[in-house]
Amino acid sequence: MALTPTKKIWMNGELVDWDKATIHVLTHSLHYGLGVFEGIRAYPASGGPAVFRLTDHIKRLFTSAHVLGIEIPYSLGELVEASKDVVRESGLEACYIRPLAYLGYGEMGLNPIPCKVDVAIACWPWGAYLGDEGIANGVRLKVCSWARHDPRSLPTAAKGTGMYVNSSLAKVEAVRAGYDEALLLTTEGYVSEGTGENLFVVKRGEVLTPPSSTVGALEGITADSVRRIIDDLGFGRVRETLLRRTDLYMAEEAFLTGTAAEIVPIASVDDRSVGDGKPGQITRAVQEQFFKAVRGEVGQYKDWVERVD
Ligand SMILES: Cc1ncc(COP(=O)(O)O)c(C=O)c1O
Repeated sequence: MALTPTKKIWMNGELVDWDKATIHVLTHSLHYGLGVFEGIRAYPASGGPAVFRLTDHIKRLFTSAHVLGIEIPYSLGELVEASKDVVRESGLEACYIRPLAYLGYGEMGLNPIPCKVDVAIACWPWGAYLGDEGIANGVRLKVCSWARHDPRSLPTAAKGTGMYVNSSLAKVEAVRAGYDEALLLTTEGYVSEGTGENLFVVKRGEVLTPPSSTVGALEGITADSVRRIIDDLGFGRVRETLLRRTDLYMAEEAFLTGTAAEIVPIASVDDRSVGDGKPGQITRAVQEQFFKAVRGEVGQYKDWVERVD
């Protein structure tokens, strides 16, 4: 998806012009993939743009950095304010925000300890990541041949830049085969997640999701919000359980959740329709409530919405 430039990018404490936000080719993270990032969305709300669970996302950035041994030289509060500055400066009502902490220029070799840590925050307009048609009518998924990386190989609890090689390999395989998105299984064959989304399944009226820590999935902030919405709407508590790919073939409904993707119904997996292939009742209800919540229109979730102005 092509980028639409905005005015400024926050880099190490300063707002710099979009075109000047550049790095040296010998930047450490570019070579060895050790960095952490976030994906956050701002939505139009009464009183100006509002960032969905901004503080929780920045907290996860710090947690990811802690897990990977990266020391971010700013406080949580500073990066929350910097994110708001970037959105305010862009003049956009709705946008995607990308904080990134990476090992900068000056050292080489696999020992990252001496490297300085640089931080940047950009934002840009970004429509539906899996397409408007996907949100409306569902996406076609393919179980891919790449297994989700094992928690013994990489710390799956961290949103680390290099870990997304796994997601990119999976995405390319699915897209080249004509599907919208890939579904990754663990090395044991249990359902893990999409390349950038968590997964929920409805079976016999019960909403199920794989346990993130066991299957190496990221603990999604959208997924956390969706669990609460599902419970509050009266569909019951979401149950964590290990799922096989056939559980998806036999599900009544299934959907993906993520900041970029938002809430996306799954129409089919490996060319087997999920339910009747159309977004189900629970999926629709969750979508409706989520899209109201992110705009600050649901009183009980107003804490999730952090206004820029
Ligand atoms: C691999 C992966 N899983 C799940 C998610 C969903 O997480 P969130 O809802 O916090 O965006 C993301 C997106 O950040 C992701 O990259």
